[in-house]
Amino acid sequence: DTVDWNPEDAGKSGYDHYMLKEIHEQPTALRKCLRERVSELEHEITVEELATLECSGSVQFVACGTSYHAALYGARLLRENGISAQCFLASEYDAQRIPITDETLVVGVTQSGETADTMGALRMANQAGATTLVLTNVVGSSAARECDHVMYIRAGPEIGVAATKTFVSQQAALALLSSELSGSEAPALIKHLRGLPDKLQHVLDESTAQAVAEEFVDADAYFFIGRGYNASVALEGALKMKEITYKHAEGFAAGELKHGPLALVTDQTPVFALVTGDTAAKTIGSIKEVEARGAPVIAVTDRPAEVGQYASHVLEVPDAGPYLTPILANVQLQLVSYWVAAQLGRSIDKPRNLAKSVTVD
Ligand code: G6P
Repeated sequence: DTVDWNPEDAGKSGYDHYMLKEIHEQPTALRKCLRERVSELEHEITVEELATLECSGSVQFVACGTSYHAALYGARLLRENGISAQCFLASEYDAQRIPITDETLVVGVTQSGETADTMGALRMANQAGATTLVLTNVVGSSAARECDHVMYIRAGPEIGVAATKTFVSQQAALALLSSELSGSEAPALIKHLRGLPDKLQHVLDESTAQAVAEEFVDADAYFFIGRGYNASVALEGALKMKEITYKHAEGFAAGELKHGPLALVTDQTPVFALVTGDTAAKTIGSIKEVEARGAPVIAVTDRPAEVGQYASHVLEVPDAGPYLTPILANVQLQLVSYWVAAQLGRSIDKPRNLAKSVTVD
């Protein structure tokens, strides 16, 4: 398989920053990731690259940064489909003494295929006799060469240091992987995957994230909360905010708020709450906890009528089913971070102290 990289893609196409351009390229990136892999007509998901992949034991994901958040999402998806899956920060894989056997499938998630920590974990897994698979964007990268199996996410070139479209493509690729590994080709998942690019386009067209960003640009800190799939989206929302605005931002599994972080919440702390899927009711409970402290709540939700009464602002997303709606929720958070950073005049495409690919450990 190959990835089409058009040199013209490397321009900003009228956008102020590559990051905004890449956020807007996400529907196209998704279509490329799904092309020839998802057939609605035949109700089939077929990833040719994975034809010879077998998995009899458990799955361990290893990744860093934004890719780690995609991996958390992927591990949750696999478990949903009955596969035992865990997720590790690649830099901790050795340090935490994770047991690896020749039955283990170790999946690296790395858009560049070059991150030193992830390569270290994958090499360790190879040496221990595990089967290795990498999900990457770069053909011929170190990970693509060294792993037993490769699945390309087909996001196209990403110039902005803060990952956006590669994250969305990783999430879509992980949904395909979960179907391939579990042998479950739920018609609902296929339908929702096919509809996802258009729904993402709808989010981009209708988003009021810029107005939310303008209102809260002066805050000293931002919180992000969610459960299940949305816990990984909360972590990613906070990471994006830190990376490009240089503001303090924290992402939590919503239930953890009361075990410490709540002490930091005041009427000056905007809280972004991800309220989708079957975790919504419990997350509304968490919203009430922060509201009682006077915090402004921005709900990202597919059910605005129900959730709107608990929030000061709503960023709406279409319903794309329980597995995929969190992908759309993340796009609203990308836009909020972008517009906060733009108003602050930050170096959005090349934030201070950060590199696109960290090749030292
Ligand atoms: C760097 C980048 C992050 C990225 C991480 C992992 O720290 O700044 O945006 O998520 O590396 O990169 P990878 O290429 O392994 O996905």
